[in-house]
Amino acid sequence: MRVVVKVGGSLMKAGVPDSLVRDAARLFPSNQLVLVHGGGDVVTEYATRLGKEQRFVVSPDGIRSRYTDRETAEIYQMVMSGYLAKRLVQALYGVGVRGVSLAGVDGSMISATRKSKLVIIDERGRKVVIDGGYTGRVCGVDPSLLDMLLGRGYLPIVSPLAQGEGGEPLNIDGDRAAASIAMGTGADVVVFATNVDGLSLDGALVGRLTAEEASASLPKIGFGMQKKVMAAVEAVRAGVREAVICSGTREGPITRAISHEGCTVVTR
Ligand SMILES: Nc1ncnc2c1ncn2[C@@H]1O[C@H](COP(=O)(O)OP(=O)(O)O)[C@@H](O)[C@H]1O
Ligand SMILES: [Mg+2]
Repeated sequence: MRVVVKVGGSLMKAGVPDSLVRDAARLFPSNQLVLVHGGGDVVTEYATRLGKEQRFVVSPDGIRSRYTDRETAEIYQMVMSGYLAKRLVQALYGVGVRGVSLAGVDGSMISATRKSKLVIIDERGRKVVIDGGYTGRVCGVDPSLLDMLLGRGYLPIVSPLAQGEGGEPLNIDGDRAAASIAMGTGADVVVFATNVDGLSLDGALVGRLTAEEASASLPKIGFGMQKKVMAAVEAVRAGVREAVICSGTREGPITRAISHEGCTVVTR
């Protein structure tokens, strides 16, 4: 089975999640695994330490996101690829797995189009258009590098950066990146490991839902989870058999996700 696992930034913030790393070692290489990681809060922490105050912008639908200017893009790349991905490589080494970290720019694996303009709401509540900065929308995934690594027994770890049309690294959403890699590599399952057991609606964990039910519930879901549900819907609609949202801190989180224990499963 081929499984793409997004390791949420909420988990990376507290250090590499041990139970997830041990579980990956149990499942690999008899199953093909690809890890994609997040880490937005760690980027913010390091940017602040470097004296680069992070700017956050709010879209007309109320979604708050990092504004990636050139310096921020450089810090984002350093922290994601140079620090967080390498911590996963080291943790995997500790359980006997050869991890290789790459960003979407390596081998032109993930291509994206730069968002040329962003519509935001300014401090006075007015809609304004600003330059899009270094943020991209994924438009393609070339699976050949991942196939090659998996075929030789390496576990790929992908940082959420894509290659723009001019070769420049663009910041992309980690959940979206995981869904795109699952779609582009013909994965059976995409797992979103985070700091809660799954999607809750009206105070209860939802065990299973269709893409249609998931889309209909979006207005009732808070921002971080909303992005996962949107990515899950996109993946299953593109042919990934199932998308699972689960806790990455429980024992055996990937095994639990693929056997549907205490998590949210989205199917077509
Ligand atoms: N309906 C919901 N069900 C579950 N979690 C929700 C919901 N609405 C908002 N959330 C929040 O989404 C968070 C997960 O998203 P996020 O913080 O982006 O995690 P990650 O860093 O792992 O991507 C949860 O910790 C939870 O606080
Ligand atoms: Mg998130």
